[in-house]
Amino acid sequence: MKMIPSFLSFAALASAACHYGTTLAPRDSIVGRAKGKFGYDGLQGPINWHGLSPGNALCARGESQSPVNIVPSDYDTVSGSSYNLEIPSYPDGAEIENIGTGVQVYVNGSATIDNTTYALRQYHFHTPSEHRIENEYYPVEVHFVMQTDDESLAVIGFMIEVAADCDTPSEVMTASLRNIGEIPSTGNITTTEPLDFSDLQSHLAESEVFTYGGSLTTPPCDEGVAWNVVADPIFVDVSTFRAVKAVLKFNSRHTQNVPGHVNVIESASKAFDNLL
Ligand SMILES: *[C@@H]1O[C@H](CO)[C@@H](O)[C@H](O)[C@H]1NC(C)=O
Ligand SMILES: *[C@@H]1O[C@H](CO)[C@@H](O)[C@H](O)[C@H]1NC(C)=O
Ligand SMILES: *[C@@H]1O[C@H](CO)[C@@H](O)[C@H](O)[C@H]1NC(C)=O
Ligand SMILES: [Zn+2]
Repeated sequence: MKMIPSFLSFAALASAACHYGTTLAPRDSIVGRAKGKFGYDGLQGPINWHGLSPGNALCARGESQSPVNIVPSDYDTVSGSSYNLEIPSYPDGAEIENIGTGVQVYVNGSATIDNTTYALRQYHFHTPSEHRIENEYYPVEVHFVMQTDDESLAVIGFMIEVAADCDTPSEVMTASLRNIGEIPSTGNITTTEPLDFSDLQSHLAESEVFTYGGSLTTPPCDEGVAWNVVADPIFVDVSTFRAVKAVLKFNSRHTQNVPGHVNVIESASKAFDNLL
């Protein structure tokens, strides 16, 4: 029983290595942009991402940074049915990689946002959630990262709540995360359980989505990201949540200023100058 999975994960690792960072198949052009090794604690953490490289200046000076606390009355909403989110099924599972600051699943797909078609590159997880809705955070947030041919970025984010008795866990999120315990360390890669995205697609189609212009939530904090945060949460069961938390530990950037207001770090640094 052991032989087959370990052979498969070796094959997945080898094929990933072949495609990594080539121009034809950029492995992950999004996280690949990060300047400097960043983390979530101390001087490698979000309060000092700007200190890791001059290329990360927007992390401290940008005025449209993400994540934010979404106050529903202040944000535009669109109907989830307008996105036409298409993601093929992966009956043999898809690759999931521990990239050190999170875990990413590599799948293809597309969505239409504001009449623009985006190609899905990957989805990844944060715990706790980065966005908040009416001040409240969720245990996990999943980001579906999408790009146009000219590299404009959009993200569709779903809040993930821990299921109580009457809640139905998302089958595709459960299948995505089932093997996360096999990839505890940076660079580890394994294969998810079979993936069929229909429950996620139906959930999106039936939900309202908050939209705003924000940024990457990781260095270099590039702005111009079209954010789409699905209003209604999806669910995973307690054991899935614990498995996620055991691997991700903590990978959530703090809440940023209201879009258009002065960056919280820039404001705080000015206040610091006034200390006696
Ligand atoms: C995505 O689509 C491309 C082009 O068809 C294909 O080469 C690649 O293997 C696909 N990747 C995944 C993860 O399905
Ligand atoms: C999208 O395209 C349709 C048809 O061309 C147009 O009527 C509509 O106003 C466009 N919507 C946006 C948000 O640009
Ligand atoms: C995960 O990465 C660690 C550290 O590089 C390595 O020792 C271990 O063998 C890897 N495990 C798997 C399942 O790839
Ligand atoms: Zn993210």
